Amino acid sequence: MTRIITHFAIVLFCFFLFSLQTISQSAQMSSGCDQVPDNFNTSSSYQSNLETVLSTLRDCSSHGSYANATAGLSPNTVYGMFLCRGDTSRASCSKCVHSATLSMSETCNSHKGTFVFHNECMVRYSNFSFFTLVEDEPVFGRFSAFSSSGYPKVSNQTISGKINELIPRASSSSSVPYFVEDQEHVTQVESSYDLKAIVQCSPDLDPRNCTVCLRLAAQFLYDCCA
Ligand SMILES: *[C@@H]1O[C@H](CO)[C@@H](O)[C@H](O)[C@H]1NC(C)=O
Ligand SMILES: *[C@@H]1O[C@H](CO)[C@@H](O)[C@H](O)[C@H]1NC(C)=O
Ligand SMILES: *[C@@H]1O[C@H](CO)[C@@H](O)[C@H](O)[C@H]1NC(C)=O
Ligand SMILES: *[C@@H]1O[C@H](CO)[C@@H](O)[C@H](O)[C@H]1NC(C)=O
Ligand SMILES: *[C@@H]1O[C@H](CO)[C@@H](O)[C@H](O)[C@H]1NC(C)=O
Repeated sequence: MTRIITHFAIVLFCFFLFSLQTISQSAQMSSGCDQVPDNFNTSSSYQSNLETVLSTLRDCSSHGSYANATAGLSPNTVYGMFLCRGDTSRASCSKCVHSATLSMSETCNSHKGTFVFHNECMVRYSNFSFFTLVEDEPVFGRFSAFSSSGYPKVSNQTISGKINELIPRASSSSSVPYFVEDQEHVTQVESSYDLKAIVQCSPDLDPRNCTVCLRLAAQFLYDCCA
């Protein structure tokens, strides 16, 4: 009997994002812009408030895995936040936020809002206060380029069972807010493997909206990648 031992990972993030016009994706990074283009004048106060927000986020990134920042008076107020993956070290978090914020001021210079997902962090800014809100768009699903031979067939029930187990734990976990990681050895008739899973919400969500957001993300994951 051949036993195949391998790893299968699920990563479920809830970042309550906004409608977007363009998304670019690569192995390391996904990014996009707010839906409404707005050619703001790069010498305007919006631009300088944006620079204040991004540099505040960079400063905060060596102190914790989440921060928000707001700068400027209406109508040029800029709102921003970052969130690092709960299993990321302070140093990696900070490095990720530095690289994301430095790249993003150029990504969408004809839009007032931008977000970037890297593997270890996400950063977002916009001209409206998006904190605490659940939004169901945009959403990303990514799967590893597993070849069909050599990897076990992971059943839908195994994945949905695992996610249903972790969602309530994420909204009540405390050591790292809203972060749960899990690894379980799954034994099937023809193979066995380690199933790793990560579930995380941004800490500005209340527990109820964390659960709502994770359920939306899980449904998307079943639809995109089952
Ligand atoms: C940008 O703002 C400056 C200063 O307010 C102004 O002189 C310039 O004409 C503006 N440029 C555009 C393209 O609006
Ligand atoms: C944000 O910017 C867009 C594009 O200019 C504008 O339509 C929208 O009203 C702005 N929102 C706020 C809250 O200022
Ligand atoms: C939860 O999200 C909804 C939808 O974005 C928002 O209207 C509501 O205010 C949020 N609830 C709290 C308690 O922040
Ligand atoms: C997998 O299970 C989930 C959750 O029960 C369900 O929503 C989804 O439709 C299923 N997908 C397939 C391909 O059976
Ligand atoms: C923004 O960050 C401050 C701490 O810097 C925190 O007290 C506050 O709750 C945060 N707001 C939201 C909406 O997450």
